[in-house]
Amino acid sequence: MRYKYSLILLVLVACLAVGCRQAADNTPPEPQEPAQEEQQKNPAEAIREEWAKSAHATATNAESPDSPAKREACMRCHDGRAYTMQISSVEDLDTGEPVGQDCDTCHSGHGKEVWQSGLVQLPAGEVRDGGGALCMDCHNARNIPDPENRPAPHASAEADIVMGINGFQVEGKTYGSSPHTAVKDTCFGCHMADLGGGYPSHTFKSDVETCKSCHQGIDTVNMKAKDDYDGDGTVEGFQEEVDGLLKTLHDTIEAKLEGGSFTSGHGRILFQDGNGNDLENVPAELYHGAWNYFLVVNDGSRGIHNPLYVVQLLQQSILMLDGDLGDAKQL
Ligand code: HEC
Ligand code: HEC
Ligand code: HEC
Ligand code: HEC
Ligand code: HEC
Repeated sequence: MRYKYSLILLVLVACLAVGCRQAADNTPPEPQEPAQEEQQKNPAEAIREEWAKSAHATATNAESPDSPAKREACMRCHDGRAYTMQISSVEDLDTGEPVGQDCDTCHSGHGKEVWQSGLVQLPAGEVRDGGGALCMDCHNARNIPDPENRPAPHASAEADIVMGINGFQVEGKTYGSSPHTAVKDTCFGCHMADLGGGYPSHTFKSDVETCKSCHQGIDTVNMKAKDDYDGDGTVEGFQEEVDGLLKTLHDTIEAKLEGGSFTSGHGRILFQDGNGNDLENVPAELYHGAWNYFLVVNDGSRGIHNPLYVVQLLQQSILMLDGDLGDAKQL
């Protein structure tokens, strides 16, 4: 119901702004600026083009019958309409092929409400965070660590890392929070900035331009780290320091498994011994180290979202499992 009303409202506003040219298309209102520069693309058009090339424009594995956009436990993030209307049953969403995260997903219905309220309920707890709450509603780990059932963090652990809330923390250590939550509306500020076109970018990619207000003179997001965090004897780009720590943690966990290995699949972290047999029992600390490993990998920013917290999570996990940090600068 509510969805219908906001749709009508959206169409109405669109009519006022663009004279009903594209009312049937749900095109959100164009910004009010007069066309001072004729050559400049119409922002709504430019936005649509950027969005169409983004990962949001297509549902994950849409063709497959197993697509998460067609599964009840998954559709509320993987099908844009299911999200807007908060539908979690395939029968209730009888509207044809799945759609990715389209204009309506964020600009109407449930998405608009979360955006405006700035409040979101994550598995790891409630978060109040301006507009970024909208992104966090889908971009979170979906799970909390549990050494009994051994769930894995989902492929989208961004909210957890940005907010510094869902990593396994060793006792007695104080973990830092992100300087980057100071960015206005967090996710929006870095991923949807106006990059000169006069409208918020809809590629959803973070651009190094957005860093320069605070980190002057950098020309890559992989900016030089302040110190050697992975202990390999050189100070590299910050993302490479994080890659180095991830490799050390990975190798440390496998050393504990004495030739075995660990992976993440079907929502769980799986451990195998040297002969490829599944291990039913593993010590909690091994699971916790692996949880932190996948949390950082699945955050996808290679530490940028919360530099201090990520370095601490990885270094402490390595030390907890008797790994070697060499002469790394410990935070
Ligand atoms: C309704 C759920 C939902 C919302 C809300 C949402 N996303 Fe996404 N996002 C997804 C899904 C699902 C994917 C993966 C799409 C695919 O690959 O099929 C994705 C993909 C992405 C990607 C590309 C990831 C990659 O590895 O290529 C970025 C970046 C992104 N989203 C950023 C954002 C930002 C920023 C916001 C807030 C403005 C946001 N998302 C809001 C569900 C959502
Ligand atoms: C993943 C969420 C998401 C999707 C999908 C999305 N938008 Fe947006 N859109 C935003 C956010 C967030 C902002 C505001 C960013 C800011 O202010 O920093 C925005 C801003 C805009 C604006 C500027 C409004 C203003 O007042 O300046 C327009 C126009 C717009 N979007 C149109 C679209 C269109 C058209 C589509 C589909 C092709 C679309 N958006 C898809 C999240 C989204
Ligand atoms: C809370 C929201 C949410 C739910 C629920 C959810 N996902 Fe996702 N999923 C995402 C987001 C967001 C991404 C995009 C990854 C990123 O952020 O880079 C994603 C990515 C994926 C990917 C692509 C992974 C990759 O490495 O490219 C697969 C596959 C996937 N999800 C499967 C599922 C399945 C299966 C379910 C249900 C059992 C499910 N998802 C439930 C939010 C969700
Ligand atoms: C300080 C700026 C900043 C903030 C705040 C921020 N991000 Fe990012 N994000 C980045 C950078 C930089 C990368 C890594 C891009 C690269 O390596 O090229 C990234 C990577 C990602 C990725 C992996 C896919 C990609 O685009 O490479 C996703 C998904 C993502 N961020 C979503 C989010 C979400 C959701 C939020 C809010 C909870 C958020 N980000 C907050 C800067 C930021
Ligand atoms: C609102 C200001 C602000 C913005 C915007 C911002 N940062 Fe930061 N960043 C900080 C502060 C403050 C710190 C912590 C103090 C420091 O290390 O300089 C920090 C720390 C870092 C660190 C840790 C450095 C180290 O070696 O310990 C990295 C890496 C980083 N930022 C990268 C980025 C990238 C990449 C972007 C753009 C995508 C970005 N930042 C945007 C304020 C910002």
